[in-house]
Amino acid sequence: MIHVSHLTKYYGDYAAIQDVSFDVPPGKIVGFLGPNGAGKSTTMRILAGFLTATSGKATINGLDVFWDNLEVRRNIGYMPESCPLYTEMRVNEYLDFRAGIKGLSSSQATQRINYALERCWLTDVDRQIIGTLSKGYRQRVGLADALLANPPVLILDEPTAGLDPAQIRATRDLIRELGREHTILLSTHILSEVEATCDSVIIIHRGQVAVESTLEELKSSVGKKAQIVMVVSGYRDPNMFRAVEGVIDLRIKENQRDDTIELRITTHDVADTAPRLCECAAKGNWRILELRIDRPTLEDLFVQIMESEPTPV
Ligand SMILES: Nc1ncnc2c1ncn2[C@@H]1O[C@H](COP(=O)(O)OP(=O)(O)OP(=O)(O)O)[C@@H](O)[C@H]1O
Ligand SMILES: [Mg+2]
Repeated sequence: MIHVSHLTKYYGDYAAIQDVSFDVPPGKIVGFLGPNGAGKSTTMRILAGFLTATSGKATINGLDVFWDNLEVRRNIGYMPESCPLYTEMRVNEYLDFRAGIKGLSSSQATQRINYALERCWLTDVDRQIIGTLSKGYRQRVGLADALLANPPVLILDEPTAGLDPAQIRATRDLIRELGREHTILLSTHILSEVEATCDSVIIIHRGQVAVESTLEELKSSVGKKAQIVMVVSGYRDPNMFRAVEGVIDLRIKENQRDDTIELRITTHDVADTAPRLCECAAKGNWRILELRIDRPTLEDLFVQIMESEPTPV
C-alpha cells in the first residue's frame, strides 16, 4: 500500500534521511520508531506530500507522492506532529472547513464530521474554540481531521503525544479498530503501544532503516536471548550450576542478608535447560525460591539498536 524506495532528504548539506526503503502492506498497522531526530516526521511529511524528497521514490496506493500529489492527499489522512489547527475556529467549524477542502459534499461532511467527533471523543466540545482546548483535545481534533474523508491510508505522527494515560489507552484501542479498515503508518515513542497495536515495525536510526520486521519475528529474535533467573537458598557453592548442560553463562548475585542467591543463566534453549537446572538444584539440596524466564522487552531491543551503528537492510 505504501512503498518507499531509496528515499533521501537533505536539509542544506544535512541528510535527515538517507536511502530509506520500506513497505507497508495493505490492511496492516506499522509502527514507525526511532529516537528523536531519526527522520520519522521527515519521512511522513514526504509521504503526505507536504515535503519533497531530494531523491528516491514513494507511492501510496500505486500513486506517486510527487507526481500525483493531490490524488495521494485524497487517499491519506495525515495527522502531523504538531497539528496546524486554526485556533480561532470552533471544533465543528474547523472540521467543516477541512471537509470542504477535502472535497466532501455537505451531506457527506455532516455525516463524517459526526463520525469523527464521536470516534475521537469530541462531541462534548464540538462548539468550543480550538484555542481554548487543552493539548490532548487538540490532538484529538487532528486525528478527527485525518479521519474525515475516510481515506484508505492513515499516516499518524505521534498521535498519543500529550495525551493522559486513559486517553492513550483509548486512542490505542481506536487505532487498533481503525486498523480493520485502514492501512496505518504510526510513529510513536511508546513501545508498549507498538506491542499492543502494530503488526510490524520499522526502526529508523540516524536517517537509515535499522530494522524492518514483523512484531512476531522481532519478539522471537529477542526471545532467543532470554535468560533463566533462578533464586535458590542454601550454603553451598553455586558454581556447580555451571556444569549443567546447556548453560552458556552464569551470573551469581549473593544476598548479603541471608543465604539466598540469584542465578542468571544464559542458554540457547530455555525449555531444555530449565528442567536440568531444577534437577541439579534437587541433587545439591538447594531450595528453589523462584524460577522465571526473563525475556528482553522491545525496549531492551530498541536501546540495543540505538547504541549500535545502523546497518541498513
Ligand atoms: N526544516 C528543517 N531544516 C533543517 N533540518 C531539519 C528540518 N526539519 C528537520 N530537520 C532535521 O532533520 C532530522 C530529522 O528530523 P525529524 O523531525 O524527521 O525527526 P523525528 O524522527 O521525527 O524526531 P522526533 O522523534 O523528535 O519527532 C533532525 O536532525 C532535524 O533537526
Ligand atoms: Mg517527529
